[in-house]
Amino acid sequence: MKNLFTLDELTNQEILDILNDAIDFSNGKTFSLSGKIVANLFFEPSTRTEYSFVTAEHLLNMKPISFNKASSSFSNKGETFLDTVKCFEAFGVDAFVIRHSENEYYKNLNLSVPLLNAGDGTHAHPTQCLLDLLTIYQEFGSFEGLKVCFVGDIKFSRVAHEGIKTMERLGMECFVSGPNIYMEDDYKFVELDEAVKVMDVIVLLRVQNERHGEGDQVEKSSYLELYGMTKERALNMKKGAIIMHPAPFNRGIEIEDAVLDLPQCRIFKQMKNGVFVRQAVLKRSFE
Ligand code: CP
Repeated sequence: MKNLFTLDELTNQEILDILNDAIDFSNGKTFSLSGKIVANLFFEPSTRTEYSFVTAEHLLNMKPISFNKASSSFSNKGETFLDTVKCFEAFGVDAFVIRHSENEYYKNLNLSVPLLNAGDGTHAHPTQCLLDLLTIYQEFGSFEGLKVCFVGDIKFSRVAHEGIKTMERLGMECFVSGPNIYMEDDYKFVELDEAVKVMDVIVLLRVQNERHGEGDQVEKSSYLELYGMTKERALNMKKGAIIMHPAPFNRGIEIEDAVLDLPQCRIFKQMKNGVFVRQAVLKRSFE
């Protein structure tokens, strides 16, 4: 049994092995985990991660259970997170996929079956990072020497935090750009208008309003002009460079509508790749 809490636990070779498996799935490979029941417990909202996991589970002949937080005893009767998870363990499920707003929520769970982290607070989102890497690998054929800039709300982004450290150890050079209040000292800053000229990959990020406290908000009306990907900026991008975004994206804030139709845009390709990497990590859970 193999958990997947963060990509920190994996060697570079293990990450590449998962990506190769995902590529095989993208090319039509089939694999069966017939009859295994997987509990998808999303304590935070999700569209892409939850339903691409469910799609991957169906493709692997698994039996998915989707937890309805709104009607649960967790939301309505005071049951704790731990007791909710233990309840599904008592049912005899074979694996868990869990998203939670608390960083490292998985630390005190001690489950007897594999747990795949579908995002924890501002800390990690390993399957998002894997699908981002797969999208980059499909485009460039390697990682070494590529320049990537994460743009926007870095401070509250699990996608940026896990993405930057993983991409750097795979040989990519990572930068950040965006409003000052969302920048962190650990990272190399570059102005967006400069970034678009030299980066191979621009990763736009949503402003994570739901994680903000007092004083963390920025002015929406000027965001696109100052920090967003406009068609004009996209046209200044280096030849061969691509635009990514984990989504959901806010049209007219971090991305101009017209950018979604540009040939540099890989956002829907990322969503498609989400199914393949989740097939690969589910398969790995039972190896
Ligand atoms: N990218 C991502 O995690 O999207 P969801 O929140 O819709 O799962």
